[in-house]
Amino acid sequence: MDKPNEVTVQNYKGWEEFYNIEKSNKLDFFLYNGRMIDVLFSQQFDRQFLNNMSQLATQIRRMALTKMGARKLSGLLSHKRAMLYFVQPSTRTFISFLNACHILGMKISEIRGTTTSSEVKGESQEDTIRTFASYVDLIIIRHPEAGFAEKTAWLLNQNKQPVAVINGGSGPDQHPTQALLDIYTLERSFRNIGGMDGKKIAMVGDLKRGRTVRSLSYLMRNYKDVTLYFVAPEVFHMKDDIKSFLKKHEIEFHETDDFASVMPHVDAIYMTRIQKEYSEAPAQETEIYPEFHFTKEHLSVIQSHCIIMHPLPRRYEIEVEVDKDPRAVYWKQERNGMWMRAALISYIFGVDDEIAAEFQ
Ligand code: NCD
Repeated sequence: MDKPNEVTVQNYKGWEEFYNIEKSNKLDFFLYNGRMIDVLFSQQFDRQFLNNMSQLATQIRRMALTKMGARKLSGLLSHKRAMLYFVQPSTRTFISFLNACHILGMKISEIRGTTTSSEVKGESQEDTIRTFASYVDLIIIRHPEAGFAEKTAWLLNQNKQPVAVINGGSGPDQHPTQALLDIYTLERSFRNIGGMDGKKIAMVGDLKRGRTVRSLSYLMRNYKDVTLYFVAPEVFHMKDDIKSFLKKHEIEFHETDDFASVMPHVDAIYMTRIQKEYSEAPAQETEIYPEFHFTKEHLSVIQSHCIIMHPLPRRYEIEVEVDKDPRAVYWKQERNGMWMRAALISYIFGVDDEIAAEFQ
């Protein structure tokens, strides 16, 4: 076929109404027998859940060190199949989910773009998803539309046999599994200095379109006395929805474009890149903002325990010479993603108890 057919648009009654319900009022819809099976947005996670996931990630990490432990892990979900449907570019999220599935012994299938699926023939997105559901037990989705993963869960939960759905990045909106691995990284880094409570965290860069900082901000309601510093140029300020959420939950935050003044006071600096792919006028958009870069000179300015994070990929926000400093944790953070995603999948399928039992 030379030219793809236009994708069929189907009208699903009830979806718009469901999508407009406030997130905190529809959490039960994503449970099955009392267990979360669809992981779609960060507002689904409470502190107990975050603590449990971090503990489980560490247990999996430890078990995977030995051949016996790894063998045990790989038998846990050998009867389950997962579909990775990634129609937006991805390196880490895709590979870490893939390896998380491997660790647990799951079989996987993948689609990495709409050009090789029947969407070229004009099949609707919803029918495409239903097709996956015929074959697998879990669908992991990265998609440019904010509500697509949620719509998938909404559709599939109307079936008797539920299929779990995980959001691996929904346009410029959310990236809940990144938020989980970010919390895990923060908690691990702060384990000798009292954990997350009372910490000051700077988020730097494109806060307007960066889904990672948005999802992570929502999680702050689970910790005591956290202060956020949103450091961004005027055009990339954090959006009002997040700011209203923080106000509602009485979480202190400050907005500034003066990175240098914030650096010496914070416990963590979370760097992000400019998300140019969402630009309406990419040719006119400035891509490089040196005042918002972290350089090796800054290493002497920050506190001795202050960690530097980045969801990656990076552009010019962090100089490579910073990588050698033990406070630069972004490569660890990346690896943490695999353990955390394995933890999440084992929780969804209810084999977390079998892992915990190894440590009793
Ligand atoms: C991030 C993403 O895709 O939102 N990457 C990731 O998943 N680790 C950050 C980004 O692309 O800038």
